[in-house]
Amino acid sequence: MRKIRFLDTTLRDGEQTPGVHLGVERKIDIARRLEKLGVDVIEAGFPASSKGDFEATSRIAAESGTVVCALARANESDVRIAADALKGAKKPRIHVFIATSDIHLEKKLGITREEALEAVKNSVSYAATFGAEVQFSAEDATRTDREFLSKVYSEAIRSGATVVNVPDTVGYAVPEEFAALITYLKENVSGSGNVTWSVHCHNDLGLAVANSVAAVYAGADQVECTVNGIGERAGNAALEEIAMILTMRGKEAGLSHGIVTREITSASRFVSDVTGIRPAPNKAVVGSNAFNHASGIHQHGIINDRQTYEIIDPRDVGVDESTITLGKLSGRHAFAERARALGYDLGEEAIRATFSRFKEIAEKKSALTDEDVRAIISEYLDGLEGKFRISSFQIQSGNKIKSMALITLSAGDDLFTEAAPGDGPVDASFNAVNKIAAPFTGGGDVDLLSYGITAVTEGADALGEAKVRIRSGEAVFTGRGVSTDIIKASIKAYLNAMNKLIAAAEEKGEGQ
Ligand code: KIV
Ligand code: ZN
Repeated sequence: MRKIRFLDTTLRDGEQTPGVHLGVERKIDIARRLEKLGVDVIEAGFPASSKGDFEATSRIAAESGTVVCALARANESDVRIAADALKGAKKPRIHVFIATSDIHLEKKLGITREEALEAVKNSVSYAATFGAEVQFSAEDATRTDREFLSKVYSEAIRSGATVVNVPDTVGYAVPEEFAALITYLKENVSGSGNVTWSVHCHNDLGLAVANSVAAVYAGADQVECTVNGIGERAGNAALEEIAMILTMRGKEAGLSHGIVTREITSASRFVSDVTGIRPAPNKAVVGSNAFNHASGIHQHGIINDRQTYEIIDPRDVGVDESTITLGKLSGRHAFAERARALGYDLGEEAIRATFSRFKEIAEKKSALTDEDVRAIISEYLDGLEGKFRISSFQIQSGNKIKSMALITLSAGDDLFTEAAPGDGPVDASFNAVNKIAAPFTGGGDVDLLSYGITAVTEGADALGEAKVRIRSGEAVFTGRGVSTDIIKASIKAYLNAMNKLIAAAEEKGEGQ
């Protein structure tokens, strides 16, 4: 059996999803999940890009037993910073990349092919001096002239790269062509037989997983992917889909992998909770409909034998069919057990805080489902890293008066109060939050891109989950808030997004 390795880049390429900003603690939580999931390599960040990425990479490197990888552009400074961030790693990998297609060389980097080759040689050989494994990527490989691409990989291998990655950066390839490219490179690159061949596919044409699998069948040894397929634009290849394709169909092609598939659902939900990006209901493997059978004919078949309409046993991906509901009589132990079963590894303090919130909600709502519990925990995790929390709010609203909001936010021991009018109670609340947050957001305008509220579960006592997207300059931030009171859920969601904006401004050294 040929074992296919999984490099997970949820923390690096996945974090480039519009609207996603992960704090250091949440990145560490995700890295722990990834380790449990059995990934072979965790790409922890791009340390030269921000203080936060440097810190997250070095803390993950220090605690992880898995290979930890740090991205660097093909220059000495980036490589040195990546090597520094990986100092404490048991198994460090420096991932050097440079664009190689003519369009990127001319329009983005403004260098010639010869200069790019020189940069590959210098940066890869420099990376090799740190004693870490070196991976090299030719960005936009699929739009690069093939002969030149062969020269680039040959140079990278000669300079010390032992893993060479072929990115379909803009998701342009189709499976047959991408497989042929891997075959061509393996035949034409000098030293190709002594290195690990990796592929990294984006999903612009919806082919990221198909291209990755085609490449594996053509001889690639490593796939780069993200949980739930999150990433730039249409995202990256989805880890769970590739893992299940190899599980279901790999044997017949002599392929194996080390992903612990029972951890897939819990990892997917965790990543969805902390990023605020929910997989589409019809998403393969992890969508909420993936194991739902609606039509009578299908239900009848499933009752007789699941295999009539189900190729994956839901238990193999960790879907728990238990229906025990929690309520106001449930104790801390039952709550903690449920949290653990849902995949949350919460410490004492987190259990105390989330259980007390659970009790508050259970007083108003008769039965709490897994979705409710998940919403309570992710709201708690979201709030941990933010500057501001809601201390109190008062809203005046009616059909004959202008809505007014008076909001007090706390930041540590300090309290900040502002009042603002608005077009309705939600708008007034957001305006009051804006007034408080303005000195900390780095100066630019903050635009509300979208706002929506949905019931987490059914019934008049359902928890409301509000979601917002805001933009400041080029950056987009998402926020989420949960409450039985929809105004409170809305303020929480807005504040959650605003806290991410403030954290990003602080990382850049902007704001107060
Ligand atoms: O999409 C891409 O080309 C990348 C590289 C940095 C590997 O993410
Ligand atoms: Zn990418």
